[in-house]
Amino acid sequence: VALLNPTNADFNDDVSPEEERHSFRDFKLVRINPETEENLLYLKSLYDGPSPYELDFWQPPTRIGGIVDVTVTPSDAPIFVKDLESKNLNYIVALNDLEQAIVNERSEDLYHHPQEGFAYDRYNSLDDIHKELKRLKRENPDMVTLIDIGESHENRTLLLIKLTGRRNPMGGKVSMWIDAGIHAREWIAPATAMNIIKELITGYEKDPTIQKLMDHIEFYILPVMNPDGYEYSRLKNRMWRKNRRPATCRRRHFHSTLCCAGVDLNRNFDWFWGSAGASNDPCHETYGGPQSFSEPESMAVRDFLEENTPQAFITLHSYSQMWLIPYGHRKRSYPQDFHTALRPLALRATKALYEVYGTKYQVGTGADLMYEASGGSHDWAKGQLNVPYAYLIELRPKNSLMGHGFLLPEREIPATGIETFEAIKVVADELVAQF
Ligand code: ARG
Ligand code: ZN
Repeated sequence: VALLNPTNADFNDDVSPEEERHSFRDFKLVRINPETEENLLYLKSLYDGPSPYELDFWQPPTRIGGIVDVTVTPSDAPIFVKDLESKNLNYIVALNDLEQAIVNERSEDLYHHPQEGFAYDRYNSLDDIHKELKRLKRENPDMVTLIDIGESHENRTLLLIKLTGRRNPMGGKVSMWIDAGIHAREWIAPATAMNIIKELITGYEKDPTIQKLMDHIEFYILPVMNPDGYEYSRLKNRMWRKNRRPATCRRRHFHSTLCCAGVDLNRNFDWFWGSAGASNDPCHETYGGPQSFSEPESMAVRDFLEENTPQAFITLHSYSQMWLIPYGHRKRSYPQDFHTALRPLALRATKALYEVYGTKYQVGTGADLMYEASGGSHDWAKGQLNVPYAYLIELRPKNSLMGHGFLLPEREIPATGIETFEAIKVVADELVAQF
């Protein structure tokens, strides 16, 4: 699968910078429900590759009853679907034209102010996000600090915003880290980080609860941790996941080599690096890099956090509506305070989230709820840095009948922001109470 996958292979390397965005016209999103061990093993063999079809697993196979989302090219769709039928796999075609879903992801311009410039209910360019952060600093110089924590492969700034209230409580402040966009195509994550920033700033003057949180906590928020990948997903390939490390080549057959760009930054942290759920094939979506912390983006985050270790670490992803607790590298592996601290707080946070619009989240470790994955940032934050509360949040949507996966329509950005902020407040509250 990885050999042929168009979202993996770096088909873009030998073309001009003006090259157009990759079209997903007539690509299908197939949603499969594996009902037997045999079903599951078959899907896993396709995921691990090599596969006869060009597939991109949005939700890899996990367990019986765990929904698998996979996209397939127009030319492979008929044979792939026939194959599923012959193996008695239960599936639906959730999206018949991925390109149309990509168009529909953006709101009608009719409802909108001129398309240029930043908006909290839109998916914005990196440039507009950075301009908005600078505007927030100009307007709120006593609450906002901008920190350049490093640069990406393509020399984009990793711009961190620090937010805190004007008052200094006795006993000093605690801190909370939030990053988003470690995976390029998960656009709702940076959008949600921006909405959290907005809620904290506007809430400071008018909401005593938020004022208290802001006065006691320093919030460090990195809205786009993978800026190269983010821009690449906007301009070239909507389904790009990794960063943009220049292509690494590997031998394929006798004299052919295959070169692919990108490292999965959420497999690049030093936590059981290079073991379960990470690939050493540079063409695979979960390539963990040549070694742990080989990437400028993960290095910058590591260096900052080692110097400024927070009491809570939250990393925003999409999709599937899960609140994930360490550890994700192995099934049934938990930090010692999993049952006494991490899980109870996660349950309270997701309850607060649920109470806003009835959005349901599952709570557990990534390994138990989905698949094992090593080298993840939240596992590293808990296991190596000893951050008390480390979580990974998989935002909307769920992979239900209707969900569009990574292509969450812009109209859901505000509600996702509001409900997620309620959960963040629960974690923040706990920091104030406990530290
Ligand atoms: N979807 C995320 C990723 O692939 C989350 C992984 C969470 N951890 C896990 N063990 N499943 O990086
Ligand atoms: Zn992700």
